[in-house]
Amino acid sequence: MRFDIISVLPGLLESPFAHSILQRAQKKGLVEICVHNLRDYAFNKHKSVDDYPYGGGSGMVMAIEPFARCIESLKAERNYSDVIFMTPDGETLNQSIANSLSIAKNIIILCGHYKGIDQRIRDIFVTREISIGDYVLSGGELPAAVLVDAVVRLIPGVLSDETSALSDSFQGELLDAPVYTRPADWNGHKVPDILLSGNQAAIDNWRYEQALERTRIRRPDLLD
Ligand code: ADE
Repeated sequence: MRFDIISVLPGLLESPFAHSILQRAQKKGLVEICVHNLRDYAFNKHKSVDDYPYGGGSGMVMAIEPFARCIESLKAERNYSDVIFMTPDGETLNQSIANSLSIAKNIIILCGHYKGIDQRIRDIFVTREISIGDYVLSGGELPAAVLVDAVVRLIPGVLSDETSALSDSFQGELLDAPVYTRPADWNGHKVPDILLSGNQAAIDNWRYEQALERTRIRRPDLLD
């Protein structure tokens, strides 16, 4: 799978992909993550990528030309199943969106800034608009990193124990059961006896009951 992320601040996207699971997935060749500096496609020698909004108002608007040039040069190389724009007014990211994207081959992600991007970019190029939640961030880079992380960990072979992604909260209908590690007794705070019992069927049943209870209390909407 390949992600092409178009950003005016590519430096913001270096660290999230340079560690841990995302780094290993790239080293194993399971995913390619390419970050493109929008300024390389700027419309003038000052490397401008934005301009004043038609009709007045505060803030700058990201112009169509740099995005169009970058997207078209990528599309000349390969086919893309989606061009995603990260935006707080998009559909809210959830596990089922992450699952559906994890089977794609090539995806372009656009990161906006300032007041927004020229609506024609959205109308002409964007196939999907995704939000990571009902709050506004300074730009689309952190949301893009969140989206890529959520998707890449679902690609077969990325997690060493594939079942661990399958048992994540939200992957089924239930949140995760609580987990514990040594010591079994920390200052009188004990690990539930059942987890030390060695009875796997009883442990599985306890985990299911805990997951159900946690979901009932924290996210009853998931049980509807
Ligand atoms: N850009 C700014 N805020 C965002 C959000 N919440 N989700 C996606 N993209 C964004």
